[in-house]
Amino acid sequence: MSRSAHPAGPRHADVLPEGHYAAPPADLNALDAKVWAQTVTRDADGVLTVAGLRVTDLAEQYGTPAYILDEADFRSRARAWRTAFGTDADVFYAGKAFLSRAVVRWLHEEALNLDVCSGGELATALSAGMPADRIAFHGNNKSTEEIRRAVEAGVGRIVLDSFQEIVRVAHIAQSLGKRQRVQIRITVGVEAHTHEFIATAHEDQKFGIPLAGGQAAEAVRRALQLDGLELIGIHSHIGSQIFDMSGFEVAAHRVVGLLKDIRDEHGVELPEIDLGGGLGIAYTSDDDPREPHEIAKALSEIVTRECEAARLATPRISVEPGRAIVGPTAFTLYEVGTVKPLDGLRTYVSVDGGMSDNIRTALYDAEYSVALASRTSDAEPMLSRVVGKHCESGDIVVRDAFLPADLAPGDLIAVPATGAYCRSMASNYNHVLRPPVVAVKDGEARVIVRRETEEDLLRLDVG
Ligand code: LLP
Repeated sequence: MSRSAHPAGPRHADVLPEGHYAAPPADLNALDAKVWAQTVTRDADGVLTVAGLRVTDLAEQYGTPAYILDEADFRSRARAWRTAFGTDADVFYAGKAFLSRAVVRWLHEEALNLDVCSGGELATALSAGMPADRIAFHGNNKSTEEIRRAVEAGVGRIVLDSFQEIVRVAHIAQSLGKRQRVQIRITVGVEAHTHEFIATAHEDQKFGIPLAGGQAAEAVRRALQLDGLELIGIHSHIGSQIFDMSGFEVAAHRVVGLLKDIRDEHGVELPEIDLGGGLGIAYTSDDDPREPHEIAKALSEIVTRECEAARLATPRISVEPGRAIVGPTAFTLYEVGTVKPLDGLRTYVSVDGGMSDNIRTALYDAEYSVALASRTSDAEPMLSRVVGKHCESGDIVVRDAFLPADLAPGDLIAVPATGAYCRSMASNYNHVLRPPVVAVKDGEARVIVRRETEEDLLRLDVG
């Protein structure tokens, strides 16, 4: 395998070294609050509950696999980001992590903005009543039609990603008699994942316009000349699952350097700077994410310091957390179908979903935790690999995990921290049906995205 650096981070990239797994936890029944949604606990019978609902009842009512999303947790994380950044900054939830109309309504109610990156996400946002001026539209190859719809709807900003797009958006805006607010996404030569970041002179990637070689400065020059555009700021997104703030420090330094050059060349101080998303969450007990208020404080100090040094007024900051808001709020509930011990190796536990509902393990070698959910057990820990039902040996959900040795078909197991990039990256591989998203709150459950049916599949197949 040749994967090495990956958006989800180095620990999510290469094949893990043999025997990398940690020792079994002291108590297999314990739930580490770091990786579970806020209201998850066990009842007196040992059954996992969320928002006061037993997973056994949820499985009976909604079937498995299912994503179970803790609405109160989602709202409280959204609110924590909103509060941490205050009224002088903007929080755009990155819809790519997980978007549905219910989510859009929660965001609206919690006063967050929304980042969309396709016509489909835009349509979902608008259909659920998100005010267009609170939407940012991203993407490295937005179609003319998508741009037209975004401008017509009156989105708050379009993030320009290429020289062609600068002209395209300007043209469309002008033809509609509008002046579109835009940011320019630049690549600052910083790539940050998990605990590391790399600062390089140039960026070898498809997103944004490189700062290097004066390209970003040229993009600004062109955008400022076009009547259809109102350039409001510069955008930078440096990576995923980031814990270490030093990557943002380098990025902010470089973005502010560009703002200063713009002021010196054009006499304009751009009012906004967007530092993107990418803040990490705990997938396992080894991960130690920062709280939103620490992140807000660190980012605002970095930008203020850099601006003071450049003698610029501090611009309005915006951020785009996706994973950090929705990731921890959901778990995937599976039923165990087979348990296959392989002597001297590990036990393969097959569940009724797999890479179609969580591609992240196969794609990034992402790490997850898992727990027996329908009961507790005093059995010995058993080194297990949780696998799916797909015709593919890489169909792994949790690569290395300890489950009790008495695990049996019919048991329910739950994989936490699957709120981000699982349903949104789900597929129909092997014509497996995508699971529902069930939102739970205060003892009540409701389906916010229903389970796919064979009818859905056949409806698309027009014969
Ligand atoms: N803003 C921009 C411009 C982005 O490209 C992204 C993620 C975000 C915000 C949100 O990042 P977050 O806070 O959710 O980390 N599918 C991968 C990650 C790719 C994310 C791409 N862009 C995964 O499953 O880890």
